[in-house]
Amino acid sequence: MAASPLRFVAQAFRPAFGTVAAAQETEKTVADGVYTDAQAARGATVYEASCAGCHRADLGGATGPALRDQRFTRQFAGKELKALFTKAARTMPRNAPGTLGDNAYLDVVAHLLKENGFPSGSQELSADALDGIRIVPGRPKPPPPVGDFSYVEVVGCLTADSRGNWLLTRASAPVAASAAGSASSTASATTAPPGIETFHLLDAMAYAPETHRGQKIFVRGLLIKLPDEQRIAISAFEMLSPSCSE
Ligand code: HEC
Repeated sequence: MAASPLRFVAQAFRPAFGTVAAAQETEKTVADGVYTDAQAARGATVYEASCAGCHRADLGGATGPALRDQRFTRQFAGKELKALFTKAARTMPRNAPGTLGDNAYLDVVAHLLKENGFPSGSQELSADALDGIRIVPGRPKPPPPVGDFSYVEVVGCLTADSRGNWLLTRASAPVAASAAGSASSTASATTAPPGIETFHLLDAMAYAPETHRGQKIFVRGLLIKLPDEQRIAISAFEMLSPSCSE
């Protein structure tokens, strides 16, 4: 079989690819602190004014795709930072591409890196530096703390206090129920207590608490924060492990 011209070209390039792969191992990545906090703060202002309308203030995506987390990783991880810069600087804002000036786009890239969990450093990101920096998968930021009267999910050890009130002790930090997805199934199957929080459970009697004393329990419900204690009005209650010990 005659070698196609295409295959011939591919073979001719193979040594070049090998060189690139070797260079990547020592290459700088966005995890190395490639922008400054001041730059990211300027970028946040640009983002708010020119990008948030379509990509949402928290980068979660609206008419434009999310610019963070899985979507960001899927689109950009493995590429040079220049690819992200070029995408933004040449095609965004979508209704006025390229209108902001290179410095504003560099600042906005810094903001995107920060929001994707990459650390800041001592040097501002410059146009010259873009080529030599590779994007690696982002580190999802921890969910924001939940407010009073939000619907939350927690995991902890079911305990009664001296007055017979039911508590969830050594519990995980509350996560918003909507953001948590199926927290009960993702909660670890171990018996170890997951955290340091204490929640007073309202309406625990409806869930036969005596039969669950000392067990590791998942609770979903309304969080009520008082000055000296946190309460949860239970809407779902599930035993995860018959024991809750180290
Ligand atoms: C008028 C709406 C709109 C505005 C304003 C806007 N974008 Fe976009 N953006 C989009 C849409 C729609 C897409 C998807 C289509 C595309 O890639 O062109 C997109 C795609 C992107 C992408 C590629 C993301 C991916 O995962 O594919 C990046 C990066 C981006 N925008 C950055 C920005 C930045 C930075 C700004 C502000 C300077 C901005 N956008 C302003 C609508 C907008």
